[in-house]
Amino acid sequence: MTNVTTPGAVDLLPVPPRNPLPLRRQVNALRRFHTGAEEFRDAGGYVTRIKLAPTWMMPEMVLVTSPRGAHDVLGLSDAIVERNAVHDEMRDQIGANLFVVRHDEWLPRRRLLQPVFTKKNVRAFAGPMSQAAESIAAGWELGGVIDLDEQCRKLTMRALGRSVLGLDLDDQSDRIAKPLQVMLKYVADRGTAPVRLPRWVPTREQRRARAASATLRALAADVLDGCRRDPERDAPLVRALMAATDSATGRGLTDAELADELIVFIGAGHDTTATTMAYALWQLGRHSEMQDAVRREVDAIGDRNLEPGDVANLGFTVQVLHEALRMCPPAAMNGRLATADIVVDGYRVTAGTMVMVGVYALQRDPRLWSRPDEFVPERFRPDVAKQIDRWQYLPFGAGPRTCIGDHFAMLELALALATIVRRVRVESLSPSFEMGTPFTTVAAAPVMARIGERPAVTPPRNPR
Ligand code: HEM
Repeated sequence: MTNVTTPGAVDLLPVPPRNPLPLRRQVNALRRFHTGAEEFRDAGGYVTRIKLAPTWMMPEMVLVTSPRGAHDVLGLSDAIVERNAVHDEMRDQIGANLFVVRHDEWLPRRRLLQPVFTKKNVRAFAGPMSQAAESIAAGWELGGVIDLDEQCRKLTMRALGRSVLGLDLDDQSDRIAKPLQVMLKYVADRGTAPVRLPRWVPTREQRRARAASATLRALAADVLDGCRRDPERDAPLVRALMAATDSATGRGLTDAELADELIVFIGAGHDTTATTMAYALWQLGRHSEMQDAVRREVDAIGDRNLEPGDVANLGFTVQVLHEALRMCPPAAMNGRLATADIVVDGYRVTAGTMVMVGVYALQRDPRLWSRPDEFVPERFRPDVAKQIDRWQYLPFGAGPRTCIGDHFAMLELALALATIVRRVRVESLSPSFEMGTPFTTVAAAPVMARIGERPAVTPPRNPR
């Protein structure tokens, strides 16, 4: 696939058709990054233009939900499809981190940070996840009922705090989870609002978001300070960030830059991982044969703490996670701002347009997936997965601004899921997994499950 960017060729193409949904439905759908994108697509096609207000108030938007369109947007250099209003709002709140900086600042920053997150290096940060999973699951009463979402958040926070940052974050949701929620929701609401008051107007939401961001900044400063003062403190990710240097300049990060990056790693890594785990466990709790298959895999490894190297033997567990990321992608929509006229799936998208790739809509499109609303991990079996187009499955994004934490997240998730399934039996009680998109996709209601004793032996039903 190629993106025709020759000026003359672009000019000849039509602009995408305007979405026909009534204005009120558009405003409502726009704030649901998951199902809202499906609504826009069903009414207006794979590349659809959304105009909520005069252009001087709010840029036009184009929503893209075809694999080719996703390629044409995300595959471009981020100098052409830049950060947009949502990123700018986040930058204003929590500083210039990798996720929000524009191309010129981003390039050296990514070059510096990329080596920290290689497959090999993330083993040092992800390994402790199985201990966190073990200790959380040990607190579950057999026969008791838990909220999978709440427990997975606790688990992720414990792993992040104790092992990655060198802080005990148990019972510290006031310092991290709540402020993150407040800040992220504010940023997404404001970044997609048709009308925005100037930032200096002290609305209630603005004051709450500022206070939340200040709390996060203070936490990041504490983490750094603690690591500097105590060289023995076990905080592998922070240590790796402190040691990282840009291969081109030999320069490392200043303390202020380090703190900014820490906040985004906490933010990007917490909700996303916790929700994926909760969703995967909820699905396993509805499909006992799949849960047994995961258990057989992990039992075969032996009765010891799972380590990063074990993931090579957890093939089906990883397929379960891929399928969870397909049905419940934490980043349901990826947004950009076109800085030049570009071609998107045969249409001309003009400079200044906010372009959004609807990942949830792509990953559940019945024209691209058989049984899209069914949980079928086998579709990610290596021999079958070959048929999946690179641009129809994008849980970690694609192109230059793809997720830097993808290996880290997959490793943590596989270790935690296998550790839990080995210890207990999960039976889902909630008939559905309600999703909301305050920023990333999260559970919008408790996800209840009964915890039981794991079956002693789990004989194979079908050899896989
Ligand atoms: C299941 C877990 C995760 C999912 C689904 C996920 C998804 C994504 C996606 C889709 C993007 C690209 C967004 C875009 O194109 O605009 C992204 C970017 C990013 N993610 Fe993740 N992420 C996860 C975990 C993590 C973790 C654990 C970390 C770090 C510790 C992380 C750090 C980042 C950062 C820093 C970026 C910005 C990269 C850049 O612009 O260069 N993510 N993530």
